[in-house]
Amino acid sequence: KKIQIVNGPNLNLLGKREPGIYGSSSFESCLPALRERYPDVQIDYFQSNIEGELINKMQEVGFCYDGIVLNAGAYTHTSIALLDCIRSLRCGVVEVHISNVHQREEYRHHSMISAGCKGVICGFGLDSYRLAIEGLLADMNQAKG
Ligand code: DQA
Repeated sequence: KKIQIVNGPNLNLLGKREPGIYGSSSFESCLPALRERYPDVQIDYFQSNIEGELINKMQEVGFCYDGIVLNAGAYTHTSIALLDCIRSLRCGVVEVHISNVHQREEYRHHSMISAGCKGVICGFGLDSYRLAIEGLLADMNQAKG
C-alpha cells in the first residue's frame, strides 16, 4: 500500500514554529517511527508552502496511491482550489491538524476542505498523522470486506 503525507505552508518550520502550539519536534523526526510501525506501507512525504504545488502533488498521487494524509496548514481555512482537488481524486484524503483548531481563533474553526475528506483528525500533536494513517488503513480493509 502507498500513502502520501502532504504538509502545507509553514509546516517545514515544525519544531521551531510556535513550539507551545506545535511542539518541539520537526516532522522529519517522526517519519522513521511511522515507517517502522507500518512496514508494509510505503509512506511518502511532501511539503510545500505553495498552494499549487500541494495540488500538483495530490493530482500526481491521487489516482495511483491508496490514500493521502493532508495537513493543509492555513490553506485549510481558505482554499476552494484544494477542496476541488480533493473531490477530483480517486483516493481518500484525511484532513489532519496538529493543534485542536476548535480551541483556537474563530477563523480556524471553519475548514474549506473537510467536506471533501474522508475524515478529520485534529488535536493530537504529531500523533494526529499516525491516527490518520490508522483510519485510512482501516477504511481500506473495510472496503476489501
Ligand atoms: C494547523 C492549524 C492551522 O490553523 C494552521 O494555519 C497551521 C497548522 C495544525 O496542524 O494545527 O498552519 O493545520
